[in-house]
Amino acid sequence: MTDIIAGGKRRVPLLRRFVGLAEAMATPHGVDRYTELIAPTVTVNDLRAQVTAVRREGDRSVTLSLRPTRQWRGFRAGQFVRVGVVVDGVRHTRCFSPCGSEHGADGRLELTVKAHPSGLVSQELLERARPGLMVDLAQAAGEFHLPMPRPRDIVLISAGSGITPVLAMLRTLVDERHDGRVAFLHYVRRPEELVHAQELRRLAAARGVAVIVGCTAADGAGDVDGHFSAGHLALAAPWVRGAQAYLCGPARMMAAVREVYDGMGLGARLHTEAFDAAPAAVPSDDEVHGTVTFSASGIDAANTGDVLLEQAEAAGLSPEHGCRMGICFSCTAVRRSGCTRNALTGEADAEPDQPIQLCINRPVGDVDIVV
Ligand code: FES
Repeated sequence: MTDIIAGGKRRVPLLRRFVGLAEAMATPHGVDRYTELIAPTVTVNDLRAQVTAVRREGDRSVTLSLRPTRQWRGFRAGQFVRVGVVVDGVRHTRCFSPCGSEHGADGRLELTVKAHPSGLVSQELLERARPGLMVDLAQAAGEFHLPMPRPRDIVLISAGSGITPVLAMLRTLVDERHDGRVAFLHYVRRPEELVHAQELRRLAAARGVAVIVGCTAADGAGDVDGHFSAGHLALAAPWVRGAQAYLCGPARMMAAVREVYDGMGLGARLHTEAFDAAPAAVPSDDEVHGTVTFSASGIDAANTGDVLLEQAEAAGLSPEHGCRMGICFSCTAVRRSGCTRNALTGEADAEPDQPIQLCINRPVGDVDIVV
């Protein structure tokens, strides 16, 4: 919307003035918290999405089709989005990677969510998501995505829930009628855990595409047996040396793929995204003492040795967060004083007034954090 300049005087369009007035009247909640009561899909500022279809697969996965509001700027295959869902009156945010093509009709999004037994949001979506449900959405983010121009030959490797970003890549490439070779190598424990099986069959029929599904705990049930190996890679992509590879899966499986690629001297061609955190460094006993001060809330709590996000939640606070594994940075808060140790890298840091990620940092002794 452009301002009108007339006679040297800057005029604000009527609609914008009306919106500004409505915003002022709606403070502190913002006008969109009121419009959602009347027309949930019409928002002035907020990016949201409406669930248009729900498909449950296996016993623990649900795929949601979403129609975002007009603020949505699209995504690149492999990126993630933060989704906010209200559970028992409290809004919770989690990160999910869209599994559809970048070129989905009307900017539609598709998310496949695997429910974990203790996953508040994933359980809620599995059990209660229905067409019409509105969720909060953030613009897509993340550096793990297909580059432009596309590499000619591409290997996609995933396991379990890690299928979503690489399936988005495969669907995007097929939509683009990619003229290079694409190998898609995916692992599940048992065949009943495979999601998007029908879609994978469709994609496997595309020119230049090879789809191989491995079952790690059911010999003979997949195209290959057992965990990832150099042999599986050679079978899926005998041309692997000239290809770029994109990998997403649990930490242990990713380490196995990394070892094979490094062993072949192809480590620089392997691009990765984890969907679970690497095993966290356990704090030593002499670090678990002192007081964590959540100074913006006026709460002190005894340091339990857990990461700060969990300690804040245990103290009754609800800091913003998304992935809970150090990827999205939505949990960043300022450490005013004290020392924290990064649970993934093991590095300790005590410089005052530094932003840190609550989900991967543990306090070492007394810490003051602005939460
Ligand atoms: S919640 Fe994503 S980085 Fe902490």
